[in-house]
Amino acid sequence: MTQQAAQKDRYAVFGFPVAHSKSPRIHTLFAAQTGQALEYAALEVAAEQFPARAREFFAGGGKGLNCTVPLKELAWRFADLRSERAERAKAVNTLALRPDGTVFGDNTDGAGLLRDLTINLGLEIAGKSVLILGAGGATRGILQPLLRSGPDHLIIANRTPEKAKALAAEFGDLGEIESCGFDALAGQAFDLILNATAASLTGELPPLPSGILKNNGCCYDLAYAQGPTPFVRWGHDAGAAICMDGVGMLVEQAAEAFRIWRGIYPETAPVIALINRERGLSG
Ligand code: ATR
Repeated sequence: MTQQAAQKDRYAVFGFPVAHSKSPRIHTLFAAQTGQALEYAALEVAAEQFPARAREFFAGGGKGLNCTVPLKELAWRFADLRSERAERAKAVNTLALRPDGTVFGDNTDGAGLLRDLTINLGLEIAGKSVLILGAGGATRGILQPLLRSGPDHLIIANRTPEKAKALAAEFGDLGEIESCGFDALAGQAFDLILNATAASLTGELPPLPSGILKNNGCCYDLAYAQGPTPFVRWGHDAGAAICMDGVGMLVEQAAEAFRIWRGIYPETAPVIALINRERGLSG
């Protein structure tokens, strides 16, 4: 090992599966851009191995971890102390070793989504009607910042309507949230539809009634794939003014994690453009 390599701070993403994660590429680009000496690996860690592997990583000198599917709730349990937004989400995607040896847990997903929607895509949330599809962990992570942005109307629709109802009740102190199943959406129309289901991961599309996207409405899939996801294709077919997948959110949540670890916020636009070029889309 060279002296320089020995001095680099170590970070990693834990997930299962994790081989196709873009996080090592993104953090390596951030490190080069900001002149930070660090290395960042993708490590396959199954849920049952998580606490032991995380303990081992930090005991071995690791400085910070990202945790992705299916480990975010376990990471929330693992953290010694947590941010308010992580407490709300009951999920942690960023763990940071503190000088006293304790581990801080945060959730940067919601902030990442909001930055992509409002700064990168120039969307206004205030006063708009917003539909969230799905009532799992991804939705938990974005409800607080979305409600803080002041939508006129927020509905969670889910395949299992009871889960949407429970989530709406849990976050009800932050603002008014309605809930329903997918078929109850017929006859309504929204300015912004966010897909936070896991359907894209298996190449599926939630069963959406037609006519639920307003003229000039926008669609956003929190998931991403090498090509357009089924929901992104649905949005284009529905005439969306803007229709994006979650690569911008991925880069922005990574930037917020990088800031927590390194105290410096990298420039995200060139990284999003490069990642898009690398997957064959114009940046
Ligand atoms: P996590 O908490 O890790 O996000 P999850 O609890 O399985 O995972 O949540 C995934 C979300 O995607 C849920 O809202 C799920 O709907 P159910 O609550 O009815 O299970 C939704 N989902 C997954 N596959 C879907 C599909 N093919 N069509 C529609 N919704 C789907």
